[in-house]
Amino acid sequence: MLQLSPSEIKKNRTFIKVWTITFLVVFPLLIVLGLLMRMNQGEQINLGMDKFYVLMTLHGLGMAGLLFSTSFAALWYLLGTRHVKLNLGIGYFVYFMILIGVIGLTYSTLLGKFGAGWYLLYPLPFKNAIWPAWSTGLSIVSLIILGVAWLIGILHVLYTLAKEYGGLTNLLGWQYLGKKQVKRELPPVVMISAISLIPGVIAYLAGAVFLVMFLMQYFEPTLTFNMLLMKNLIFFFGHTLVNITLYCCLGWVYALLPEYTGRKWETNKILVYAWNATFFFIIFAYFHHLYMDFAQPLGLQYAGQLASYFSAVPATAVSMFGVITQVYHSKMKWSIVPLSFLIGVAGWAIGGFAAVIDATISVNTIFHNTMWVPGHFHTYMLGGVVLFIFGFFFYLSHTKEEQEKDIMGKAGFWLFVLAAHSFIATFYTGGVNSIPRRYADYKGIPIESTHLIGAFLARIAAICIIFVIIGFLIMTVSILIKLTRKKTAVMEHVQNS
Ligand code: HEM
Repeated sequence: MLQLSPSEIKKNRTFIKVWTITFLVVFPLLIVLGLLMRMNQGEQINLGMDKFYVLMTLHGLGMAGLLFSTSFAALWYLLGTRHVKLNLGIGYFVYFMILIGVIGLTYSTLLGKFGAGWYLLYPLPFKNAIWPAWSTGLSIVSLIILGVAWLIGILHVLYTLAKEYGGLTNLLGWQYLGKKQVKRELPPVVMISAISLIPGVIAYLAGAVFLVMFLMQYFEPTLTFNMLLMKNLIFFFGHTLVNITLYCCLGWVYALLPEYTGRKWETNKILVYAWNATFFFIIFAYFHHLYMDFAQPLGLQYAGQLASYFSAVPATAVSMFGVITQVYHSKMKWSIVPLSFLIGVAGWAIGGFAAVIDATISVNTIFHNTMWVPGHFHTYMLGGVVLFIFGFFFYLSHTKEEQEKDIMGKAGFWLFVLAAHSFIATFYTGGVNSIPRRYADYKGIPIESTHLIGAFLARIAAICIIFVIIGFLIMTVSILIKLTRKKTAVMEHVQNS
């Protein structure tokens, strides 16, 4: 275990505090964008088409970026205080680059009216766009800045870990597969970090390729690129980003849950096989986004379905059974941290199952681009990743005793969970009623019953979102009170771990 001086602990603590406060400020703002979208779909306000898509673009990009950045920062903190010394200068550099990227995107959407969605829908930003060309340019540059920032951060972590543990193959746990005795134990959080972050590097490079192509077309509008290639690159990038966000969170669930159950959770052959299989499947599962693209080779469509099915098995089965064996009869006290992890794993399982249903080609012909789709990814992001993040924040700010006794935090947590799942249920119900996704409102749908159901569900969703925000604010107050006092629980955790 890493030995850190008090000043190093303090510096790491300040770094993660900066990220915590950033999340607590930005996340509710992005929720408000979701609220406005649902109110528009429920015909309670009238944003107009252009503003709806501006909000959708900023919300989608903002949420995906914020959740990845925060999950990565938390992983950085755990690795940097337990296993390897990471360079905080690089950490802050990455933070400020992300900030610049976010400011650029906010400007290009809210002021420049850029509304092409996170997926950019090539060649949309260049053809018949209703926003000025400069906002497309600024969005592309901002995304490049974000991608470079993440890439620098990831490469630094991977390089430092590889140096410490004797190479990339050791990080992937391959030494456990041979007959030789393993000389140095590999903590699961280190292996999971590598398995999440290496596909991240590949995805960000794919992102770099399409963004540079976008930039070339921006400067030379007569250029055009193969649309299928663009779509493959964009969805490989987006799908992988969201997947690895979840896996970064699992890294700290593996690291922290044993502190509550008192049971070891170590790397072994099964874990190595499972996570290495996941590594492979993460890369190919994205094909399920292209089922409707008839020009995509048929073999890749089947590969997409198989990879989606198989990707669910190894990490999911091993991690979920791992969590169950950790908590079963462990006499653990159900403080807010393990509670967040367990309910977060449930959200991951439910959303994952709904995703696999949609990744089945015959089902996808019906559910494609209905509200079922935001239903499943909001389940594992809002009902999974966000709960893991809150679990981490409570771990960071509260002592173990405070975590058990924090009635306010728990009240906020349960309100948040119930309201979030009710809000998500309106997406699923919309999906099974064929309500299309990404519609600013449903007034133009010629089937009146579909229009009415869509608008009704959106109004119910808006009420749920208000309770999500209240639950969030209660938890935030509880976290901030503890986090901003002079000697925080972080010191205790770092010194004890
Ligand atoms: C309470 C919190 C949230 C609310 C109220 C909310 C609301 C919404 C709404 C209304 C839509 C548009 C759905 C449609 O008509 O197609 C949407 C889309 C989306 N949301 Fe959320 N959301 C929330 C949390 C999250 C989280 C945590 C993520 C994390 C990744 C996220 C990512 C997205 C993405 C990527 C889209 C898709 C945009 C697109 O289709 O391009 N949202 N959200």
